[in-house]
Amino acid sequence: VTVDVDPAAYEAGDHESFMHKEMLEQPAAAARALSGRLDERFGTAHLGGLNMDARETRAIRRVKILGCGSAYYVGQMGAALVEELARIPADAEAASEFRYRDPVIEADTLYVAVSQSGETIDTLLAVQEIRRKGGRVVGLVNVVGSAIARECDGGIYLHAGPEVAVASTKALTNMFLGFALLALQLGRVRDLSIADGRRLINGLTRIPAQIQEILDDEAAIAAVAEQLSEAESVFFVGRVRGFPVAREGAQKFKEISYRHAEAYQTSELKHGPLALISPAVPTVAIVPDDELTDRNVGALHEIAARRGPLVVITHEGVDLGEVDCVRIDVPRNERELDPVLLVVPLQLLAFHAAQRLGHDIDKPRNLAKSVTVE
Ligand code: G6P
Repeated sequence: VTVDVDPAAYEAGDHESFMHKEMLEQPAAAARALSGRLDERFGTAHLGGLNMDARETRAIRRVKILGCGSAYYVGQMGAALVEELARIPADAEAASEFRYRDPVIEADTLYVAVSQSGETIDTLLAVQEIRRKGGRVVGLVNVVGSAIARECDGGIYLHAGPEVAVASTKALTNMFLGFALLALQLGRVRDLSIADGRRLINGLTRIPAQIQEILDDEAAIAAVAEQLSEAESVFFVGRVRGFPVAREGAQKFKEISYRHAEAYQTSELKHGPLALISPAVPTVAIVPDDELTDRNVGALHEIAARRGPLVVITHEGVDLGEVDCVRIDVPRNERELDPVLLVVPLQLLAFHAAQRLGHDIDKPRNLAKSVTVE
């Protein structure tokens, strides 16, 4: 796969910001991430850059994902994909914390470093710590030939093209797709059936057009963002697959709108945060059509009973009961792949809230695109 974007020619063009341009590039970027990597016949993915044969792939007993910021949150989405599709225990950890706890490095664990820039010092030092102790690390990296890409034993390039805005959008989408491909390949050398493999491939090929469908709703989502921009504090809640989506949504919102935004598991609301719900504190709730829909809808009623304003990111046909809310429907796909679509309206919410507040969207205060010093 070659990336057909010339970095020197990469400018915001007619867009008011790079973030806007990069959000709108997601369908094309997502198609590039998948291009040449799907094997319909065997229901699997081809990831030659991993540099692992089938025997080594089967020997993996655990997957540990490391990244910072948005890359960490998408790492949590990736861990869920690996557990669901490959049935290998997996988790994500902030790379910035990893080496400070003298981590145990296991030979049968696959370590995955996730980074758009490939230059984030915390992630790079985590990779070096793992390799120094004899562990195997693969990279999910966007920038070809970057420091992290060079230090890893193998990897999956994201092919998102250049990303300039501090708030990551298309790189994040492609990180998710990279994890889906990795989980599919790990799954197919284990117990994932060919039928399930093909089902997921079918889902993956629909994603670029489905992202486009969400982007086509931009004007409606912008109107919701205007309301949210007036709140001093916004909660983002989700469960299981939806929780890292909520974390990423809160991250984007706070980074560029400078409003206080906090993510919780919907199930944890009753264990504390519910005390803060009031007409002044809106909640953005992730409520996909999945095994937890009824419980999630129950929580919406708890919030509504405290007169907390609600924005619900959900699927068409989900019955939210009589609850008073603003509803944003995203297209349906395979449940395992839902997060990559649920997260797109959250990018648009953050972007339009920040724009409404008049902030420098591409260069938020106090933040850098790539943090290369400790
Ligand atoms: C910085 C940026 C974040 C980004 C993180 C990881 O903190 O402000 O937006 O998610 O670095 O960057 P990376 O290049 O490693 O993905």
